Amino acid sequence: MNKLWGGRFEKEMAGEAEEFLNSLSFDARLWRQDIRGSIAHARMLGRQGIIDLDEAEEIVGGLEQIRDDIEKGTLEFDPGAEDIHSFIEACLVERIGEAGKKLHTSRSRNDQVATDLRLYLKDEIESLGNLLLGLIGALVQRARENKETIMPGYTHLQRAQPITFAHHLLAYCEMLRRDYARLRDCYKRTDVCPLGAGALAGTTFPIDRPYTARKLGFRDIADNTLDAVSDRDFVAEFIFAASLIMTHLSRFAEELILWSSSEFGFVALDDAYTTGSSIMPQKKNPDVPELVRGKTGRVYGHLTGILTVLKGLPLAYNKDLQEDKEAVFDTVDTVRGCLGILIPLVETLQANEERMRAAAGQDFTNATELADYLAWHDVSFRDAHRIAGQVVLYCISKGKRLEDLSLKEYNTFSPAFDSDVYEYISIEACVARRDLPGGPAPSAVAMEIAELNSWLEDIRSFPWSQPVPEEE
Ligand code: ARG
Repeated sequence: MNKLWGGRFEKEMAGEAEEFLNSLSFDARLWRQDIRGSIAHARMLGRQGIIDLDEAEEIVGGLEQIRDDIEKGTLEFDPGAEDIHSFIEACLVERIGEAGKKLHTSRSRNDQVATDLRLYLKDEIESLGNLLLGLIGALVQRARENKETIMPGYTHLQRAQPITFAHHLLAYCEMLRRDYARLRDCYKRTDVCPLGAGALAGTTFPIDRPYTARKLGFRDIADNTLDAVSDRDFVAEFIFAASLIMTHLSRFAEELILWSSSEFGFVALDDAYTTGSSIMPQKKNPDVPELVRGKTGRVYGHLTGILTVLKGLPLAYNKDLQEDKEAVFDTVDTVRGCLGILIPLVETLQANEERMRAAAGQDFTNATELADYLAWHDVSFRDAHRIAGQVVLYCISKGKRLEDLSLKEYNTFSPAFDSDVYEYISIEACVARRDLPGGPAPSAVAMEIAELNSWLEDIRSFPWSQPVPEEE
């Protein structure tokens, strides 16, 4: 395929250099955005009298035809093209001739590619945001069903205090809600139009940048042409937001793996989302959460990758920036895949209430309550803590639980203990009493669920971008 820039060269490019520099194999993914951007640019050229109106119409018609043909599968990408931008422009010229050669007036591939990538990422951020809401919704639903399901809460992976399964699931909802807010925030800075920045210094043609920005649904134009073509902060920000999503998903995945082991037995993954072993007939493996945990690595890798590409890069465009795309595409695919599979996995997750309740009743998870009991009976908390510790030590030596001691035994540690201590330290009471805002008690959890549900409803109808105006 002929180069867009062949005029100055005396000989053909070496095959291996061409292959090395080629980006069509991955940036073909931007074909819709590239055509969309070119249509807006061509309309602007016509409106501004930079090209004739009928030439602009011819270009738009040709581009629409190319779009339809790619959609139908009747036009295939020519692997000889340097990138998606060259490919579409060459197709246009091939189809409509002279007018097609005017499309690139007052434009460079540098502002073109930055525009395409922003258009692409805006759509993907929105769609990943909606998937996040889907996962939050699934977790909230499971929390609603498990408001009363008591489980042990952990610190240091040691049983610590009893909580509810709902409370644990809602903790993930809060992480994902912050992730969602980060996507919304990153969207704002992605939603800025670089088109018109040209190669680096704009153009002398009387272009109308706000018009093309509006046409493409951007909220604003980029304020500096040099920055417009070299800024990939939005890419780094997006991959960071995606990395933190993966951090949260990997923590959740890890807990699912632990909880579904025989050692815990708190949950069972549905057969539809597990795998067997090729040698051990009894195995049921949590491959899905394991792969979510594993895929976190590649997203972190992309974050390091893009930051390193940008580090020390002189203004403005450099070919290094071509490396942004695979990082973005793979990040989008990875996060989409992980969110997409976790939603049905959560929906079909079986909770084993008996196992959770039994575990919550072991290892003195109510010892804090015993200390609190004394603190309510005029013993300072420090002394109460020490006395409760001595009671625990005594129980360990006798192989008993706190509930099993007689009042007489209790009174050898402190006269403050009375017969109401048993009710006070019951696991159910420990949980129910923690009804502070954000706490694990069924009543507190119900409030958090109600709050999350109303947030979900509001945020779903909150628009992401400007509406694209009708023909001006
Ligand atoms: N394929 C290139 C990229 O992705 C398009 C921009 C090329 N611009 C240039 N001056 N070589 O960055």
